[in-house]
Amino acid sequence: MIQVQHLHKSFNGQQVLEDINLQVKKGEILIVLGESGTGKSVLLKHLIGLLKPDQGSVLIEARDITRMSERELLGLRKDIGYLFQEGALYDFMNVFENIAFPLREHTAFDWKTIREKVQSILRLIGLEGIEEKYPAELSGGMKKRVALARAIILDSRILLCDEPTSGLDPLRSRDISALIRDVARKLHCTTVVTSHDIQNSLRIADRLALLQNGRIAAVGTPSEFEASNNVFVKEFIS
Ligand SMILES: Nc1ncnc2c1ncn2[C@@H]1O[C@H](COP(=O)(O)OP(=O)(O)OP(=O)(O)O)[C@@H](O)[C@H]1O
Ligand SMILES: [Mg+2]
Repeated sequence: MIQVQHLHKSFNGQQVLEDINLQVKKGEILIVLGESGTGKSVLLKHLIGLLKPDQGSVLIEARDITRMSERELLGLRKDIGYLFQEGALYDFMNVFENIAFPLREHTAFDWKTIREKVQSILRLIGLEGIEEKYPAELSGGMKKRVALARAIILDSRILLCDEPTSGLDPLRSRDISALIRDVARKLHCTTVVTSHDIQNSLRIADRLALLQNGRIAAVGTPSEFEASNNVFVKEFIS
């Protein structure tokens, strides 16, 4: 379970997040929606300790990660799959090496097991046979899928995806969204996704949270959002 309590964050006097309170239950998929620049990525980075709040706390399985040392945070991050908005593949590693990297860092699997795992995940994301390619040789959408493969390869208990479908065509967006839902269901992982992609979010989320001017304007299930009278929600999902 993830709990965000009274979280505030400013940069150089500019308030980005204001009194954010959120709970994500074990195995739940929560999607944070909101316009560009409202602080979705900033919020997600707090869930893995890449940013520290000015006030408030972030509890992961009842441990306040805002008080952890860098060493403790490194331990915590082994249990968290994180897809960065920019993809953030290692340019000097090919696809195989990029996806295998978390396995090599954090597990004692032998070479053959690693190979099989990487191949099976490439099949899952529909990119078989590109092991030898380097990030510079991939399209934006392919990079995104490889980064997602890397984020899910450790079968983490927590999965955080920052804009997993941005830059993808509608069919791919749908596939990637379904893949995230399937992975989350299969591994029963607690999942937080940020997105602009209303249709796919409504399709795969257990609950949605709408971020508006640094505050949570609404939280609810997809059907609650669709039936909502909240002006922000109506405007955003119409
Ligand atoms: N490290 C930082 N230093 C200073 N300002 C930052 C930093 N990170 C984010 N910001 C600011 O915080 C605000 C929210 O940024 P954020 O990246 O969270 O938006 P977002 O909702 O993810 O937008 P998008 O949908 O475009 O990805 C922006 O005004 C941004 O300039
Ligand atoms: Mg963002």
